[in-house]
Amino acid sequence: MKVVVTGGAGFIGSHVVDAYVEAGHEVLVIDSLWEKGGGKTTNLNPAARFFKLDIRSPETAELIRQEKPEVVNMHAAQHSVKISTDKPELDAQVNVLGLLNILEASLAAGTRKVIFASSGATYGTPEKLPMNELSPQRPESPYGITKMVTEHYLRYYQTEKGLKYTAFRYGNIYGPRQDPHGEAGVIAIFAKRILDGREVRIDWDGKQEKDYLFVGDVARANKLALTNGDNEIFCLASGKGTSVNELFQRLCATIGKEVPVVRSPKRPGDIYQAYFDCSKVREMLGWQPAVSLEKGLEETVAFWMKD
Ligand SMILES: NC(=O)c1ccc[n+]([C@@H]2O[C@H](COP(=O)([O-])OP(=O)(O)OC[C@H]3O[C@@H](n4cnc5c(N)ncnc54)[C@H](O)[C@@H]3O)[C@@H](O)[C@H]2O)c1
Repeated sequence: MKVVVTGGAGFIGSHVVDAYVEAGHEVLVIDSLWEKGGGKTTNLNPAARFFKLDIRSPETAELIRQEKPEVVNMHAAQHSVKISTDKPELDAQVNVLGLLNILEASLAAGTRKVIFASSGATYGTPEKLPMNELSPQRPESPYGITKMVTEHYLRYYQTEKGLKYTAFRYGNIYGPRQDPHGEAGVIAIFAKRILDGREVRIDWDGKQEKDYLFVGDVARANKLALTNGDNEIFCLASGKGTSVNELFQRLCATIGKEVPVVRSPKRPGDIYQAYFDCSKVREMLGWQPAVSLEKGLEETVAFWMKD
């Protein structure tokens, strides 16, 4: 089938593109290569057609109307919590108005379905663990708010206009190609610094736990969503919390190097513990993580060693 992947030059989007190309689909990538994002031309799959366009632009809408993709997969976003708190208007322009541009164009093109990358950031501080699809969403950043708003737009476009959707609320995704210079992506940041023999900064007491999922498993879920899971929202994560201290130790062991640690205070908005119950996606899509943390860290380190 013909599929548009927005953000397909970025970290997660490029792995989704690879999975779609490998499955024999015709793939078009729309990505602006935004200077604050993780998009790179080196991430682009040569079998996909690439369009350097902004998701907010009329040219993007025109392209979708002309190409008439069966599915649009939406990974382009302003993805930084920090930028969203500094510039909430920018965050809303890209994440809300950009989305609406894509949804309107998809409707006009007769697109069957939109697949969307939502986020665990829509929950804010969890009341109860593990979190699942029914846990209350109280986002604590403009980024979390715009991701949550998107889910409502998707539901509205489905019930009122018949455009199908699947949204995934991702945990912390890691793996090859993740930007090691971003504010998030602790595994990429640590791996690169340990390989370079530079000190690593650990905030808070390092015992804070997040739910880390390997990007290949995310790509597989996006492949399943092409034909399954219509009009559903799924949490997508490993189901287990791993502390920052443990990640650091595991990465040092995988790389075979020790580097100094600098301790630093809690960052504003940081959440102490978050992990998910992913039984819905297991039952409805037959998806479960296939890559262990150990194997995923090995693959991530191998990627940076080649760099
Ligand atoms: N990385 C994670 O752990 C995580 C967790 C939850 C949700 N997500 C979501 O997954 C998606 C992909 O995230 P990622 O980590 O791969 O980030 P990324 O920055 O590597 O990818 C995002 C891509 O979107 C592009 N982009 C940004 N603004 C654009 C615009 N206005 N028009 C066109 N393209 C634009 C960027 O150039 C980049 O290539 C995002 O929607 C993000 O919010 C990521």
